[in-house]
Formats: sequence, C-alpha cells, structure tokens
Amino acid sequence: MKRVGSGGALFRGELSARLSPLIGPSILSANFADLGKDVRAVIRAGADYIHVDVMDGHFVPNLSMGPAVCAAVRRIAPSVWIDVHLMITNPSDFVDPFLAAGANNITFHSEVVRKPIELIQRIQASGATAGIALKPQTPWTAIRSTLEIADLFLVMSVHPGFSGQKFLRSALPKVRAIRARITDRQRIELDGGVTPENAGTCIRAGCDALVSGSVIFGSTNSRRVIRALRRG
Ligand code: DX5
Ligand code: ZN
Repeated sequence: MKRVGSGGALFRGELSARLSPLIGPSILSANFADLGKDVRAVIRAGADYIHVDVMDGHFVPNLSMGPAVCAAVRRIAPSVWIDVHLMITNPSDFVDPFLAAGANNITFHSEVVRKPIELIQRIQASGATAGIALKPQTPWTAIRSTLEIADLFLVMSVHPGFSGQKFLRSALPKVRAIRARITDRQRIELDGGVTPENAGTCIRAGCDALVSGSVIFGSTNSRRVIRALRRG
C-alpha cells in the first residue's frame, strides 16, 4: 500500500532523541471546527508529530474520530508524522483504513489483542511503525512478548477516554521497567496529563515521546508550552 507522509521512521529512535524527547500534541484537545488551523499552528510551534486519538465508545466511554479525520490532517500537513492511538476493541479491522489515511505509526491496546506480534508485524510490513499500549491498570508484563519487536510502547498516565485528566504517577514504574528491557531504537510514549510541571519526571523515568493535549491546545503560547515540555 502506498503511503504518504514522513519518509523517515521517527519512532525508530536514536539515543540522542532521549536527551530531547519528541512532543506530540493530541488533537483530541484541538478546536474541531478549525482543526486545520490548530494543526498548522502546533506544527509551526515546534511539534514533532501529531497524535490522533481514536475511540469507539466501547473500549473507552467516548467517541472521537475515524480515518476521515486522519486523512484530513494528512491533506493539510503532507509531511507531518501522524501517530494513531487506537482505543478501540477491534484494532485489526482499522489498521488498513488508517494506513490509507496517511498514518505513520499505529498503536493498539494490549488489552484487546490476543496475538499482538502478528498485528505488529502486519503494521510494520506496510512500512509504518507499530506501538502497543497499556491502560493504567495493566502491568508492564502484559507486553513482555512484544519487547523485542514493537517500535513504541505507549504507557497511559490517565484512564483512556478523555483529555484534561490528572496525571497518574503509577505510570512511572512501568516506564522504568520497560525502559530497562528495550533498546535505544525503541520509544516509550507517555500519554495523558503530561504538563511542563511533570515532564522532567517522565523524561527521567525513560520516556522519549510525550503526548499532550489540553495544556498545548489550551494555551495562547503553544510554542512556549512545547519548549517547556521538551526541556522537562
Ligand atoms: C486520552 C488520550 C490522550 C489525551 C491527552 O484517552 O489518549 O491522548 O487526549 O490529553 P491531555 O494531555 O489533556 O491529558
Ligand atoms: Zn492518546
């Protein structure tokens, strides 16, 4: 399948990226009535990638966006790296639609996939990178079988479904446990409640990709917020 977007694999990281983590604004907190303007603004403000939160009203108690929204982001930002976070019960059914819509990375939840290695390999065979995610209650051992193969480990630091929640510190020991077991070419992304106040702790624990929604899109100076997140 031919895909558009960034040529390089942003989520097959290098050691240097850990000293300066990637910042990915979550468009769940954008103004949907002016999505193109908000996406362009955070890219101009220094975002490294765009995080697309997909919800099905079943795996999580909310609905958000589907492949059409991902395709719309791809149209207005042809070279941005698009990171799709599937918070849905049947991720395998939606891998192809999101690849066709221009996704560069697809992350699915460990809680709903019985054969995660197969799905990771299917995503990687398309040329995209593949992530596996953990809800706050899920122990890191649930992703043990994927440690050598996933490009990205997404550790949720809020209960999935809504932006603007308080950061759960219980995510940090999981980050440390995973970081101790992966290579510097694999990334750990923390998602939910990340702010300039706690970013340093997240980075020191071993994260090298930080998703942030409400504090970036809720600010009148997103450049300053992105810089502060990156500095930690
Ligand atoms: C929650 C989403 C997060 C969230 C981040 O289900 O996966 O990406 O929108 O938003 P904040 O930074 O506001 O917690
Ligand atoms: Zn997310």
